[in-house]
Amino acid sequence: MLHRMQRVDRVRRFRSPLSMVAVCLSASGLLIAQSRDQVARDEARVARAVDSVLAGLTLEEKVGQLVQYTGDYATGPQGRTVTSSQREIVRRGMTGSLLNVFGSDNVRELQHVAVEESRAKIPLLFGLDVIHGFRTVFPIPLAEAASWDPALVENSARISAVEAAAAGIHWTFAPMVDIARDARWGRIAEGAGEDPLLGSLMAAAKVRGFQGAGLSNPSSIVACPKHFAGYGAAEGGRDYNTVELSERTLRDVYLPPFKAAVEAGAGTIMASFNEVNGVPSSANRWLLTTVLREEWGFKGLVVSDWNSIGELIPHGVAATEGDAALLSLEAGLDMDMMSGCYRDQLVALVKRGAVRESTVDEAVRRILRIKYLLGLFDDPYRGISREQEHALTLHLDHVAAARDAARRSIVLLKNEGNILPLKPSLSSIAVIGPLADNVRDPLGPWAGNGQAQDVVSALQGLRSAVRSGTDILYAPGCTVSGGDTGGFTQAVALARKADVVLAFMGESSDMSGEAASRSSLGLPGRQSELLAALRQTGKPLVLVLMNGRPLAIPEDVARATAVVEAWFLGVQAGHAIADVLFGSYNPTGRLPATFPRSAGQEPYYYNHKNTGRPPVDTLNYTSRYIDLPSSPVFPFGFGLSYTTYAYSGLAIANPTLGVGDTLHAIVTVANTGGREGGETVQLYVRDDVGSVTRPVKELKAFQKVRLGPGEKTVVQFALPVDALAFTGLDMRRRVEPGTFTLFIGPNSAEGLQSAFSVRAPVESR
Ligand code: NOJ
Repeated sequence: MLHRMQRVDRVRRFRSPLSMVAVCLSASGLLIAQSRDQVARDEARVARAVDSVLAGLTLEEKVGQLVQYTGDYATGPQGRTVTSSQREIVRRGMTGSLLNVFGSDNVRELQHVAVEESRAKIPLLFGLDVIHGFRTVFPIPLAEAASWDPALVENSARISAVEAAAAGIHWTFAPMVDIARDARWGRIAEGAGEDPLLGSLMAAAKVRGFQGAGLSNPSSIVACPKHFAGYGAAEGGRDYNTVELSERTLRDVYLPPFKAAVEAGAGTIMASFNEVNGVPSSANRWLLTTVLREEWGFKGLVVSDWNSIGELIPHGVAATEGDAALLSLEAGLDMDMMSGCYRDQLVALVKRGAVRESTVDEAVRRILRIKYLLGLFDDPYRGISREQEHALTLHLDHVAAARDAARRSIVLLKNEGNILPLKPSLSSIAVIGPLADNVRDPLGPWAGNGQAQDVVSALQGLRSAVRSGTDILYAPGCTVSGGDTGGFTQAVALARKADVVLAFMGESSDMSGEAASRSSLGLPGRQSELLAALRQTGKPLVLVLMNGRPLAIPEDVARATAVVEAWFLGVQAGHAIADVLFGSYNPTGRLPATFPRSAGQEPYYYNHKNTGRPPVDTLNYTSRYIDLPSSPVFPFGFGLSYTTYAYSGLAIANPTLGVGDTLHAIVTVANTGGREGGETVQLYVRDDVGSVTRPVKELKAFQKVRLGPGEKTVVQFALPVDALAFTGLDMRRRVEPGTFTLFIGPNSAEGLQSAFSVRAPVESR
């Protein structure tokens, strides 16, 4: 403890680069305002510099630039040590980039080999999955999306970049911007959920946060939106599985977050593992070149996913590694992460004339360009030092931001009899469940350099917040997924003694993320039985969920008096949970994905099509399951507060729109409860009739308001008509004329309704 305090004193001497953010952001605003000519002149200058480096490279060295190795992949923990084989690979110019190597000493050592001991002296690019924090671990992206707050997400990404850059990282394989409509898919944890608008806003925010004031700033790391594209639509929610997706749905649902990330300036993109309609992304020229570069104007580098070039062979579109390398390079894939196909095949392919050297050159240029923009040719070390790394790691400001992000990510799902917030008069609280005193799982999947020792467990958070006079009684009761019920007796005995029971249940962190698809969405192991036993005590029962995906737990929800969705909240999980349970923070989170009744309903998402026979639970021959109500347990956008809100007075100022118009709508929102709170006012639109079928509703805008008790406000929306565009029957993107239904309310299932119309087609980009 003393040691931690001493370090805290020391870090105070360092100013976190975050304090520079305001200045830098306005500077980047100026950059955006630069004339097109200036941008073109800058690009030309970079291109000249890159060309002069390229001109000095042998073919082998060029190919080396296209190769990415992982650190320490054959032995020991990734990224912790530098091996002699790594040094040799770098010395021989066999790689342009390393992943999973970090730490200022390690990075300096290998970079020194690259720029002093290799012939070509080209600096390395160091990459890592900094998905939701480096050492200060923030809530998983799905949780942060529940904040519906792009500024918060940008700030977390900024802090993650500051810490990662100080540890020598230049490049994060993030944000993960895959739309996920199927909660069985474990990687739903890594993204912003099911909605294209929310996903796009979060994608752009993360890119801005990671890349900060511009790549040349040493606290910036280059972003890599992934996995391009359609990965979230894996059949059956099974990771790496086949994707069959119409081009229309791909363009209207799955691509918008990528486009938003590219428009926010993302420097790189990662191709996905999956195939889309028969063509694996790593060989998909239409995706990687036609859409990405030609339609969207992307100038950055495209990296493969881990071994995804080699996997073109089991996909069955390449017979040999040579074919795979050829297909990928020609498709527009610049860097080979870990398959070895480029390393082993490209030189020979060029020599025998199967691949043009100019194609290799183009890929090398894109990699050198990123290195140049990062300033690596000026200072290959970007000023990193052990001292600064130490000072910025877990900086107090970063940890405070992690707590704030965590509490804003929590979603209150049920609160019968206003059992929450917990009353100060309680004499004892039973804290039960396998996740209650857990310091590993709150880190969630893909936790960067996150360490269990940094995590505040729920029990620790509650203990540090509870009033003297209230006892906390703790028993785990069972494990997350084990079959042992031996701990039930003690847990139930404690519950009997307490005024209220808090049950911390859910998934372990390795049940979501990559290669962690589930076929069922219930509480694993014996947790539901434990919850039922706790219910039998008759004590008020608060179920606090920790999980990386929507769960299908209608019976557990019914058993609980209150339900709090606490996801995997990162290093400050326990404090954030205590803030919400004791009421020092009034919850504001809203679900970024639908909570179904059963895994059998998946893929289940709010913005589905209507069908010709929309579901009516009491009517046969409608589009429903005979054994389940059609509604979800909790709809997209849902979340409660310790106060209540009422909506009234929805009005549209200009109900007929034409080209260039903006829809102006207002609604009055009142805080009808007893304390101050924050509401997320959501605007959805249904396009009543289209040339092709349209979703039953789509989120088009939202606003967050804060209201004191009894206060009300008029919320004004201005929606450009262009926001109604979609890919029509002729595959052109436009707004079709006709009538639209407008919904404004607290979530995707409730709200006030009105109508407007568009009088003529509006062409769109
Ligand atoms: C495979 C994952 O799909 C990808 O998201 C990640 O960035 C790479 N491995 C590197 O760790």
